[in-house]
Amino acid sequence: MNDNKKAILNIDGKEVSLPIITGSENETAIDISSLRKETGYITLDPGYANTGACKSDITFIDGETGILRYRGYPIENLAGKVKFTDVAYLLINGELPTVENKSIFSKALRKEAHIHEDMKRFFDGFPLNAHPMATLSSMVTALSAFNPIETNDEESINDTMIKILAKVKTIAAYSYRKYHGLPFIYPNPDLNYVENFLHMMFSDSQESFHADEVLIEALDLLLILHADHEQNCSTSTVRMAGSSMSNIYGAVSSGISALWGPLHGGANQAVLEMLEVIKNDNCDYKKYINLAKDKNSQFRLMGFGHRVYKNYDPRAKIISKVAEKVLNTLKIEDPLLDIARSLEEVALKDEYFISRKLYPNVDFYSGIIYRAMGIPTNMFTVMFALGRLPGWLAHWNEMINSPDFKINRPRQIYTGSQLRNLK
Ligand code: CMC
Repeated sequence: MNDNKKAILNIDGKEVSLPIITGSENETAIDISSLRKETGYITLDPGYANTGACKSDITFIDGETGILRYRGYPIENLAGKVKFTDVAYLLINGELPTVENKSIFSKALRKEAHIHEDMKRFFDGFPLNAHPMATLSSMVTALSAFNPIETNDEESINDTMIKILAKVKTIAAYSYRKYHGLPFIYPNPDLNYVENFLHMMFSDSQESFHADEVLIEALDLLLILHADHEQNCSTSTVRMAGSSMSNIYGAVSSGISALWGPLHGGANQAVLEMLEVIKNDNCDYKKYINLAKDKNSQFRLMGFGHRVYKNYDPRAKIISKVAEKVLNTLKIEDPLLDIARSLEEVALKDEYFISRKLYPNVDFYSGIIYRAMGIPTNMFTVMFALGRLPGWLAHWNEMINSPDFKINRPRQIYTGSQLRNLK
C-alpha cells in the first residue's frame, strides 16, 4: 500500500520529499530508494534493525505485542490444527490446500523423497564426526547437480520446490545415520512427512520404528512453529544469495549456513549445552543469571532475547506447554526442564531482563522436546532447518517474481586509508 504521506528530509539546505509506505497492518516505512540519486547520501544501519529490505505478503510479526501470522493466520490458529505440510503449502502458495491439492502435494512429496543413489557416496567423504549442519548444507548444494532445473517456468520452479522439501528431510536423516555409523534407511512412500523422517532416523534393517503419536504431533507442531519468520538472518541470506539469480539449491544452502550460528538457529543446540553445564554445576542457575548480566563476561542466556520480539515469543509459549505434555506423556523426568523453568522464572523478575525486554525465544524449550524424542543435540539446528525450509522457499519464490526484483547490493561507508602510493 502506498498513501500520499511524505517524509521531508532537510539536508545541506536542500529539501527532499520521500514517500511513506504503509503495510496492510499499518506498519510504516520511509521509501529512501531515490535518496542517493537526489542527495548523494546513503543510509547507515548496521545489523539492519531499521531497514526494510522488501515488501512481503508472507508473514506478519508484531514484536511489541507478540503476534506471529502466516499469510494472515495467527500461529496459535495453525499450531496443532493443520499439518506442517499444509503450512508449507500455505506459505509457498498463499492459501491452505484444498482436499484435492493436499492429496497432490502429499503424493509429490512422497514420490520425491529419495535422493540419487550416487549422492549416498558423498556421505562417505565426510568424517564420521562431521557436524550434521555441515553435511546438510553441502548436500543441498550437491542436489542441484543431480536435479538440474531445466526451465524457469512456474511448473518447473514448483517441481523444484517440492523436490527440495521432500529430499532435504532425507538428507537430514542420512546426516544423522552417517554421524552414528548406521546404514541409511530408504524413505517409505506409505508414511507422511514427519513419520517418514522419524522412520529414516530411527528404523533399522530388522525393525521399523513406530513413534508414539504424541511425538509425531509434537514434531509436526515444532516444524510449523519454525516454518517462517519473515526477514530473519537465514531468510535474508536466501534472498541475498538468490538475488544474483543463483540457483535455488545454492540459495537454500546459504540459508542453512546462516542458520547454523548460535545467535540464530544454532541457539537451540547452545541452550541444551548451557543447561547441561548448569546441571553439572550443581544446578546453580542463579550463578548463570548473574553471569549473563555481567558485562565483563561473554556469557549470554541462550534462548533468551530476540531482535524483533520485545514481548514473550508466541512460539516459545506454545513450545513450553508441549514440552511439559511430551515429558508427562512419556513419563520422562528431565532435570534440564526444571533448570530451564527456574532460569525463566528468575529472569522474568530480574530488572536486567525486564528493562531490555528479554524473554524466552523459540529455541529455549525446543531442545527439551527433541531430546525426549532421542534426537541428539547436534541435530537440533538441522531440525530448525527442516522447519524453516518452506519459509526460505516461499521468500525465494516471492523475490524472483517480484516487480521490484533486483540484485541485492548494499553500500558502505569506507573508513580505511585514504589514497597512498608506494614510495
Ligand atoms: N543474555 C543476556 N543479555 C542479553 C541477551 C541474552 N540472551 N540478549 C540480549 N542481551 C542484552 C545485550 O547484552 C544488550 O545489553 P546492553 O543494552 O546493556 O548492551 C541488550 O540485551 C540488547 O541486545 P542486542 O545484542 O543488542 O540485541 P539484538 O537484537 O542485536 O540481538 C539476539 C538479538 C537474539 C541475537 C540476542 O538476544 C541473543 O544473543 N540471544 C541469545 C541467542 C539466541 O537465543 N538466539 C536465538 C534467537 S530466536 C531464534 C532465531 O531467530 O534463530
